[in-house]
Amino acid sequence: MSTQQKEFKKVTTHVLQEMKDKGEKISMLTAYDFSMARIVDAAGIDVILVGDSASNVMAGHETTLPITLDQMIYHASSVVRGVDRALVTVDLPFGSYQGNSKEALVSTIRIMKESGAHAVKMEGGEEIIESVKRILTAGVPVMGHLGLTPQSIYKFGTYAVRATENEEAEKLIHDSKLLEDAGCFALVLEKIPADLAKRVAENLRIPVIGIGAGPHVDGQVLVVHDMLGINNEFKPRFLRKYANLHSVMTDAIKQYVIDVKGRDFPNEKELY
Ligand code: KIV
Repeated sequence: MSTQQKEFKKVTTHVLQEMKDKGEKISMLTAYDFSMARIVDAAGIDVILVGDSASNVMAGHETTLPITLDQMIYHASSVVRGVDRALVTVDLPFGSYQGNSKEALVSTIRIMKESGAHAVKMEGGEEIIESVKRILTAGVPVMGHLGLTPQSIYKFGTYAVRATENEEAEKLIHDSKLLEDAGCFALVLEKIPADLAKRVAENLRIPVIGIGAGPHVDGQVLVVHDMLGINNEFKPRFLRKYANLHSVMTDAIKQYVIDVKGRDFPNEKELY
């Protein structure tokens, strides 16, 4: 089958803009490896985020800060190999873009060349705008990320809701417009009041995708391990669990242990 004959349309930044313009909500989930990306993509997700949450979810770190550019490229290239339809966006990890715009571009080029991903995501507003512009000039789509930006956790000191005070809310509105004007194709808003997220989504032409930002935005994103209930320790109010894979997997593994120890596995049909 040639590429033109494939019956599904690949999701591009233009498709996402059309979705916002038509009022169709955008679905986004994280994935960090080939097998999960295959399932998530085949299920019809529009955007797959290779999030730096891989630092927590895959590597067991307390924050997103330790994950390296090489590790993000490894996760991203695994995901890209599993995807036919979704737009794959990759987080620029902490320390790979904050220094200056040249460093940001060099990191981005490594991600795009070595993983085959379609876009990058960066945390921050005015303070990273030069880097955003330089990356866009090189032809790489950029997704912004405001609100609770986990790479700044030691500045915030807490994972609590952001922008509840007027000053921070006004800065967020200002930064969201700067990111749109610079040319970002979409914006993630994390853990902010729903009314503020609504204001931003109405104020911007580009799609706004929320996590803990209420229903009045253009799409939703969750960490796939959280919504599948693989990780059963993380229970923020915004998280809806669609499965309890922690107990499904635990039960399956317990049964395997019983079968091996009881000499039930393998049986005569499972040998050569
Ligand atoms: O890294 C990540 O998973 C993210 C989402 C929470 C938006 O940035």
